[in-house]
Amino acid sequence: MTQSSTVLITGGAGYIGSHAVLALLDAGWRPVVIDDLSTGWRRLVPDGVPFVEGDVADTRLVEATLREHGCQAVMHFAGSIVVPESVADPLKYYRNNTAASRNLIEACVGTGIESFIFSSTAAVYGEPDRVPVSEDAPTRPASPYGASKLMTEWMLRDTAAATPLRYTALRYFNVAGADPEGRSGQPLEDASHLIKVACQAAVGLRDDMAVFGDDYDTPDGTCVRDFIHVSDLAIAHVAALDRLVGGGDSLVLNCGYGHGFSVRQVLDVLGDIIGGPITVRNAPRRPGDVSELISDSRRIRDILGWHPRYDDLATIVRTALEWEKRLLAMKRGCG
Ligand SMILES: NC(=O)c1ccc[n+]([C@@H]2O[C@H](COP(=O)([O-])OP(=O)(O)OC[C@H]3O[C@@H](n4cnc5c(N)ncnc54)[C@H](O)[C@@H]3O)[C@@H](O)[C@H]2O)c1
Repeated sequence: MTQSSTVLITGGAGYIGSHAVLALLDAGWRPVVIDDLSTGWRRLVPDGVPFVEGDVADTRLVEATLREHGCQAVMHFAGSIVVPESVADPLKYYRNNTAASRNLIEACVGTGIESFIFSSTAAVYGEPDRVPVSEDAPTRPASPYGASKLMTEWMLRDTAAATPLRYTALRYFNVAGADPEGRSGQPLEDASHLIKVACQAAVGLRDDMAVFGDDYDTPDGTCVRDFIHVSDLAIAHVAALDRLVGGGDSLVLNCGYGHGFSVRQVLDVLGDIIGGPITVRNAPRRPGDVSELISDSRRIRDILGWHPRYDDLATIVRTALEWEKRLLAMKRGCG
C-alpha cells in the first residue's frame, strides 16, 4: 500500500471494528468509519478519523463516502451479531446482515472498489464433523445469524466471479479481550460473550454468571472454544488487506489460534487473576451450542504470515478485565 491509502471501515465504532481502526492507523492506513451507532460507540473511533453516521444499506451514502475519501478498499464489520436474537427475529438478520451487505457490495462495485474484507464467522460451520475445523469443512449454519453471514460470503464469491472485486472472508472463532493499551474493548453492557460476562461478574456488575451445560463430551463437561484476542484479529485484517490490495486473489480464512479452552478453564484463569472464583450458576445447554469449536489455523498462518501476539488465555482475560474496570469507572463518572 501507499502511505496515503484509505479504507472504509463499516461498523468501526463497534468492538472489533474499532480495534481494526487502531491496527490500521498503526500500519499507516487512513481509515474512514461508517456506523449507525446501533450498538457501537462514537467515542471508540479515535480523534482525527473521519466518521460518517449512517446505514451501510444506504447505497448512495456509501458511494458518496467512498468517492469523497478516495477509498481503495472496504472492511465490512457492520451487522447484527446475537445468535439467539437471530433465531427469534431472523428477518432482522437477513435485513441487517444479508440485505445490507448486498447494498454495500453494490456500492463497492459501483465505485470501483476492488478489495473487500468481510467479517464472517465460525457460525457458518454449525456442528462440525471434526475439530479442528478447516475452511473446506461443510457449511451448515445452525442459526439465521450464521446463515445470514454465509449468504454474504456467497454474494461476495459470485460478485468476485463477475466483477474486478476480490474479497477475503475472515471466519472468526471466539473473539475476546481488549486493546492492551486500554483504547478500546467490548462496549455493550448486555453482550453475551463468555469472557465479557465473566469479567462483568468479576467487577461486580453481575451477581453471578450462568454456565450453559456441564455434560458435554469434553474433558470437564463444559464447551470448548478457540478464543482469539481481538488485537490479533485486527492485525490479521491488516495483513489480509495488504495482500488484497497487492493483487491477492479471493480467499476464505479461519481466524483462531488452533487450540481451545473450556468454559471452566476460562473461569479458573479469571479466578487466578482476581484471587478467587466468581459465583457460577449451572444452567441447561442452550440450543445451537456445539460442544467443541476449534479452528484449523494453518491457512491464515501460511498465507498471511500471521503471527499472533496475544495467544495466551491469561492475557486475553486480563485485558478484558482491565477494560471492564475502565467501563465501570466511566459509568461512575470518573473514567
Ligand atoms: N464478536 C464476535 O465474537 C464475532 C464473531 C464472529 C464474527 N463477528 C462479526 O464481526 C463483526 C463485528 O462484530 P462486533 O463484535 O464488533 O459487533 P458490534 O456490535 O460491537 O459492532 C458492529 C458495529 O456495526 C454497527 N452497525 C450495525 N448495523 C449497521 C448498519 N446497518 N449500518 C452501519 N453500522 C451498523 C454497530 O453500531 C456497531 O458499531 C460482525 O459482523 C460480526 O458478525 C463477531
